[in-house]
Amino acid sequence: MQPQNEEHKTITELIMQAKREATAETDTEPEPELTSAVDWPVACTVGPGLEGAIACETRVGYVNGKKGWLIYRGYDIFDLCAHSSYEEVSYLLLHGQLPSSSEFEEYSNRLRRYRDIGQTLRLFMSFPIEQLHPMAALRLGTNLMRQKQTYRDLDVDPDHAPIAADEDSIAMETPPLGEKEAIYEFASGAHTRPEKASDDLTGSEDIDSCYHLISGVATLAAAIVRLRRGKFPLEPRQDLSHAANLLYMINGEVPSVLEERIMDINLILHADHGMNASTFATMVVASTLSDIYFSIGAGISALNGPLHGGANEEVIKTLGEIGSPDNVDHWFETAVADKRKIPGFGHRVYKAYDPRARILAPLAERMAASRPELHQLYQTAKKLEQRVVAEYGEQKKIFPNVDFYSGLLYRAMSIPQNFFTPLFAVSRVAGWTARVIEYLEHNRIFRPRAIYTGDLTAQYRSIETR
Ligand SMILES: CC(C)(COP(=O)(O)OP(=O)(O)OC[C@H]1O[C@@H](n2cnc3c(N)ncnc32)[C@H](O)[C@@H]1OP(=O)(O)O)[C@@H](O)C(=O)NCCC(=O)NCCS
Repeated sequence: MQPQNEEHKTITELIMQAKREATAETDTEPEPELTSAVDWPVACTVGPGLEGAIACETRVGYVNGKKGWLIYRGYDIFDLCAHSSYEEVSYLLLHGQLPSSSEFEEYSNRLRRYRDIGQTLRLFMSFPIEQLHPMAALRLGTNLMRQKQTYRDLDVDPDHAPIAADEDSIAMETPPLGEKEAIYEFASGAHTRPEKASDDLTGSEDIDSCYHLISGVATLAAAIVRLRRGKFPLEPRQDLSHAANLLYMINGEVPSVLEERIMDINLILHADHGMNASTFATMVVASTLSDIYFSIGAGISALNGPLHGGANEEVIKTLGEIGSPDNVDHWFETAVADKRKIPGFGHRVYKAYDPRARILAPLAERMAASRPELHQLYQTAKKLEQRVVAEYGEQKKIFPNVDFYSGLLYRAMSIPQNFFTPLFAVSRVAGWTARVIEYLEHNRIFRPRAIYTGDLTAQYRSIETR
């Protein structure tokens, strides 16, 4: 799908080389188990936090930690990164197969149309976005996207829906916290606000809403960066790919071929990853038959936690703290003595090299080669990787994870550190929506249980006597 120039060919070759190394290193690991249909009810050993629990069957994606495999709908992540694009991969995740040329064209056109969420943005900007945490802003924006989309179900032309009916209806003098006035203005506008839009929460979980979210969350995220930089959001460019347009909307410049390709690969790599916490959160919400906007909002909320998204921010801080390759040994020995966990290393599932880190490492090297200001950071990262793998690789199966090099690449593309997690969400919307749509085909509300270990015979005493 990608136009092949020299830069593309070099990157493709780097990824295929990484694949050959991965295959050679993990060839002797046992073949995967548990990849066939489950005979419910199933017996399995469950640890705290539902570790090991089998919640459902899926055909969306597969992670094998021992072999270092990440597979989307049967396709190896190395092949997808080498040959595909985020548009194609998101279609694959949602629809179960790679698109034909005509399907691809129609899908990309629809994604392009959904990039333009101007009316949502206008409403969004009536909030003090620059004062919110970027993930809180993204969560809010997703909710506003939902409100816009539900009007669609009422046969109201979204371009003439009440929120958009009168641009002046969002009074510019309305103070940021004065939503009340703004809401009254909508209600008293020329169009009557359809009651059903706020009453009926169903009907927006169709595939079109998934496309709307995949495109719209990217536009929202870019708008957040711009607003936090004190700038207005930029209109999306219809002539650019999803990755290039995202970078354009953030930085106001069309990215180089290398930057576009690296962003595209980052988006592909983060699109899905088994039943991680945020994916599970989206599915739990969807299983109540709430709608997909609420579900994706739950995914964003779960991703916000430092135990999930955000380790790449820590990596950049750590590399800055180390300062130069010469300081790595001393820093590492101190970290070991302090029993400190080194950000960007280790993984709950991967006990081999994370395939995503294998792909990003040579790309970081390539990016650093063209950016002298990144050279020191990259050299420090490389030396730290060698030291950690030498010490912990064989013994504890600790290797770099996806976060180790992704932060460095984002920094090279002028993406602010507190925007790394929102960017993760921009990509993961594809996996979240795909898994929700799949789960809803045979929906069963999630309802695990907790073992009650509290008192059973407490006697009620009035407040005066406690
Ligand atoms: C990802 C992570 C939470 C996985 O945790 P886990 O599977 O529960 O692994 P554990 O915390 O049980 O660690 C197992 C052993 O490896 C060690 N270990 C794990 N990650 C380590 C790291 N990054 N640096 C140093 N030691 C590490 C632990 O100290 C523990 O050693 P011990 O057996 O001597 O006590 C953990 O590796 C970590 O905190 N990594 C750093 C943060 C990070 O990069 N997160 C992003 C993940 S994509």
